[in-house]
Amino acid sequence: MAGVKITDTTLRDAHQSLIATRMKTDDMLPIADKLDKVGFHSLEVWGGATFDACLRFLKEDPWERLRMLRKSFKNTKLQMLLRGQNLLGYKHYPDDVVEEFVKKSIENGIDIIRIFDALNDPRNIKKSIEATKEYGGHAQAAISYTTSPVHNNEYYINLAIEMEEMGADSICIKDMSGILLPYEAEKLVKGLKENIKIPIQIHSHFTSGIANQTYMKGIEAGADIIDTAMSPLAMGTSQPATESMIASLQGSPYYPDIDMDLLLEVTDYFKDLRDKYLDKGLLNTKVLNVDVRTLKYQVPGGMLSNLVSQLNTQGKLDKFDEVLEEVPRVREDLGYPPLVTPMSQMVGTTAVFNVLLGERYKMVPKETKNYVKGLYGKPTVPIKEDIKQKIIGDEEVYTGRPADLLEPELDKLKDEIKEYMEQEEDVLTYALFPQVAIEFFEYRQAKKYKIDNNILNDEFKTYPI
Ligand code: CO
Repeated sequence: MAGVKITDTTLRDAHQSLIATRMKTDDMLPIADKLDKVGFHSLEVWGGATFDACLRFLKEDPWERLRMLRKSFKNTKLQMLLRGQNLLGYKHYPDDVVEEFVKKSIENGIDIIRIFDALNDPRNIKKSIEATKEYGGHAQAAISYTTSPVHNNEYYINLAIEMEEMGADSICIKDMSGILLPYEAEKLVKGLKENIKIPIQIHSHFTSGIANQTYMKGIEAGADIIDTAMSPLAMGTSQPATESMIASLQGSPYYPDIDMDLLLEVTDYFKDLRDKYLDKGLLNTKVLNVDVRTLKYQVPGGMLSNLVSQLNTQGKLDKFDEVLEEVPRVREDLGYPPLVTPMSQMVGTTAVFNVLLGERYKMVPKETKNYVKGLYGKPTVPIKEDIKQKIIGDEEVYTGRPADLLEPELDKLKDEIKEYMEQEEDVLTYALFPQVAIEFFEYRQAKKYKIDNNILNDEFKTYPI
């Protein structure tokens, strides 16, 4: 037995969780060769918030980052996180955009696409799973893990069976808040193993301090792959530490085939990088603490800091505890959505409005209204009539697949950005983040910075012209 497999998330989730997604490509490339030779099953390097952060804050082309990484990682599979029909944005995109996005992700170097939907609505991940398979990628369907009176093992097993039937190549239990308890993980993994044939991966966060034990019990129950991050960027709201998890498995049949000496050289590199981020004030040491509130409120680390900053700008930080207590109530009212993008933002902002306005649902964010109208998919539990009344009145609720309402738009979008197009991928960047994309394209033109489309074929170079 080859032991458990490891996906290292340092280049995606870890820096998204700890340093607001600010790791630059230049900080990744020097260690790529060593990371590539350690023996990881895969490296999560793209997707999630990295795409947006590249454009918005780092003034990097995310597609070019991907090509550079692909070029550097010759042995290891590259993995990304995709929000199903929401891709890497915050709303539903038409099927033609989804298909093209998946195609280009794979063409530019992604091997494994982890696909999830915040509502666990299978209709919202179907198109991206199909496209991934069509273009030769590995489609991993992710269960957004949460707890509620209806989110039990039977629910998750049925969902996983449906995902397998849909063509998923593996299943991920995606515990974004770090609330999956060790013995629950054991039961869930066992149940999944009895009912599906494809491999099972566990993704958790260290936020509440339990993820290491969760992984151990999950592995003993048969989980095939776990997600960890290199120790300098692990723990806190990030993943458990890669080195510690591997060491914990020594002397067991689960011990993975990893070059530990080389791994520790990788640790040294990230230690220096972490110090650099600390000096720059990018790493807030607060997120490194164990936060047990997440066990009670289910609020993922990123959402906690969002709530703090929303309240801070209003000068209402004193209402923080009240808002935190309002979150589970709003969640219940809305049919127990898992608190993951975009539902975490929706529930969070609605809770903030409810508390600050002193009356529940007096004012409701547009996104929450659209959710109640069915435009994000099917709530796990139907929303109660009186709550629906308060939020959307007598407006009709749509029960079909949200993307069926959307017309193809790729050709139109291509037309809109003709003057900026330097690569086919640009239209996707524009489809996802229109305003940020235009700003980036203008920056790119002004800098006379030329992107290299043939990086995977030629020797890499970025050159000013
Ligand atoms: Co995560």
